[in-house]
Amino acid sequence: MADVTTLLEARNLRKSFAVGMGAFKTSARQAPAVDGVSFSVERGETLGIVGESGCGKTTLARMLMRLIEPDSGEILFRGENWLSAGGVELRSLRRGIQMVFQDPVASLNPRMRVGTIVGEPVAIHEPQLLRVDRRARVESMLQAVGVGAEALSRYPHEFSGGQRQRIGIARALILRPDLVIADEPVSALDVSVGAQILELLDRLRRDLSLTLILISHSLPVVAQLATRVAVMQGGRFVESGAAEQVLQSPQHPYTQALIAAVPQMPA
Ligand SMILES: Nc1ncnc2c1ncn2[C@@H]1O[C@H](COP(=O)(O)OP(=O)(O)O)[C@@H](O)[C@H]1O
Ligand SMILES: [Mg+2]
Repeated sequence: MADVTTLLEARNLRKSFAVGMGAFKTSARQAPAVDGVSFSVERGETLGIVGESGCGKTTLARMLMRLIEPDSGEILFRGENWLSAGGVELRSLRRGIQMVFQDPVASLNPRMRVGTIVGEPVAIHEPQLLRVDRRARVESMLQAVGVGAEALSRYPHEFSGGQRQRIGIARALILRPDLVIADEPVSALDVSVGAQILELLDRLRRDLSLTLILISHSLPVVAQLATRVAVMQGGRFVESGAAEQVLQSPQHPYTQALIAAVPQMPA
């Protein structure tokens, strides 16, 4: 039986994309974006995944969300085979994993009011719920992310980037998922606004008993929240372990280089 504290387990995930589709289309080469990644996530922890742009982080996240299918490998979520699940089981597992995206502008429908955007997952997964109850759920979720109820009837463009990310988080959390995958959640924001969003994610993780996978190209961002850190390079995890161990005594040269590249805090 699977360990009850293990929420997600990925085994040897691989995904390649065709590259060099030029004059010789038939000989297009497959380049691995994710090249044999294995890890597990325990309930309640924050796994930070860090690595430079193009190393395969988003491809990995999309496989974990079942938005793209791996070429090979396995994913167990809540002990169930997430990649082969169908029907009722799939619906149940699907609402258990939600994603927070980098760009709140692109991820929120500009023609929908905030109340509809945040309430949509509830409308889909709990269609029997009365409108008035759905609205109450939306209001309390918005309150939890620090957005006032007056936002309900407004549109995404009326909000700042930070407020929009709070709305995106409300939408991701309204179904009370077990696991939240945040892919570059603060990359589009100013550092100080981003820091507040990270604090919010951490508080919600505690209050709602969430497990978090925090993906960023920025080591300081990952270091702010992660209890465990995985360092990704060229589609592979080159180092992973407890956050303080990886950050304070990095073993792999690439991790050492990432840490050396972080500007020191002014004394
Ligand atoms: N849909 C796709 N088609 C072709 N190549 C892709 C696709 N998605 C990602 N890639 C390639 O896979 C590699 C990893 O990309 P990505 O997962 O987006 O990395 P990251 O999120 O770490 O920046 C890159 O070389 C990228 O060009
Ligand atoms: Mg990415």
